[in-house]
Amino acid sequence: MWIRLRLDISWRNLCCGFLGSLNRAGRKAARKELEKFWSEGQNDVLACLSVRSGFDLLLQAMDLPKGSEVLFSAITIQDMPKIAEAHGLVPVPVDLCGSDYHIDLAALEQAVSSESKVLVIAHLFGARPCMQEVLEFARQHNLYVVEDCAQAWFKRNWRGNDQADVSLFSFGVIKTATALGGALCRINNPEILARMRSLQALQPVQPCLDLTIKCGKYAFLKAISTKFAFGGITMLCRQFGKNPDDVLGGLTRSFAGNNLFSKLRKQPNTGTLRLLKHRLETYDSRRINQRINNAHFIIEKLGLDKTEPELLNSQHSFWLFPLITDQADELIAHLRLHGFDTTQRGRLRVLPPHSKQRELTCPMATELLDRTVMLPCYPEMPLKAIESMCELILDFSTEVA
Ligand SMILES: Cc1ncc(COP(=O)(O)O)c(C=O)c1O
Repeated sequence: MWIRLRLDISWRNLCCGFLGSLNRAGRKAARKELEKFWSEGQNDVLACLSVRSGFDLLLQAMDLPKGSEVLFSAITIQDMPKIAEAHGLVPVPVDLCGSDYHIDLAALEQAVSSESKVLVIAHLFGARPCMQEVLEFARQHNLYVVEDCAQAWFKRNWRGNDQADVSLFSFGVIKTATALGGALCRINNPEILARMRSLQALQPVQPCLDLTIKCGKYAFLKAISTKFAFGGITMLCRQFGKNPDDVLGGLTRSFAGNNLFSKLRKQPNTGTLRLLKHRLETYDSRRINQRINNAHFIIEKLGLDKTEPELLNSQHSFWLFPLITDQADELIAHLRLHGFDTTQRGRLRVLPPHSKQRELTCPMATELLDRTVMLPCYPEMPLKAIESMCELILDFSTEVA
């Protein structure tokens, strides 16, 4: 049961993407149509190549004084703070808590300083924790709030929290409603949006062949994404001394290797823009309902309502299911042995403290991520498979108890 190669895209959409990638004309019109469609008349949207591209454009457009601090909810992908650093800014981690990985207000109070200008909040695994108190705090401290919804998109007309200054949505390869790339940024301030747009217009366009190659590559991966193939790949990895996480992660990584900035500083091409609009227009919301049902089944079966109450109390679309356990490594090995592709952190990391503020470690986030196992609960996963996965987890817990 794959999680990383279970791409949220049908054969039909892959064909559409492939054919669309051959048509290079009409990029400006495609961009306008997509932005108009998703902005619902608000004119506050910029379509980008990726969330990282949008974040990079935002920081260019904001042009903050060097040395300004960007507060990040502590668990995120490494590239986000790296982008802030490339703009001469100082990334500062803010500790998280709970099974919805929400910002800890006390940690936020400790982390903020007169140099703090931006707060980036990543919603993890599909959770959308209540942001009210954090937004009030941000307002009191004049922080510009960026909501990173890369893992949280769940329906066409959800454009993030409208009290956040910016909300960023990714449609990268392993995301919900993937367009094999592309991102949408909702930006409240029209001046910043206009600046981002002009900066983006100076960037080269993503080569058309990019999408053509991606459609071929992911069609192949989709075709082999069976339990049998997963078992085969893990066995081969073990034989060649490779970590299956590195192999599988590498297959789905965009902007792999060096030269991150030359890769992300591109405008999306016509095919990506058209495919993204098509995905938004036609996405079947029943898929998300099914994912939520699967997750609720796991919660009930494993009795998690007491140990992970935020899974039920927070809004959640369960992009992945985060199970918190004291034996993460052992449980992952046990589930993999039975053909379930589980992983611990993927590309997520706890942001280390900056050299100027060594005391700002994030013990809660570190413990949370160390104890998190990401379980599959995608819509096509048969109930029987979910049930056997839960039974394996319950057996494992009894064995180690
Ligand atoms: C929390 C988070 N932020 C940002 C990103 C970057 O998204 P993109 O690949 O569109 O740049 C990701 C991608 O996985 C993510 O998980």
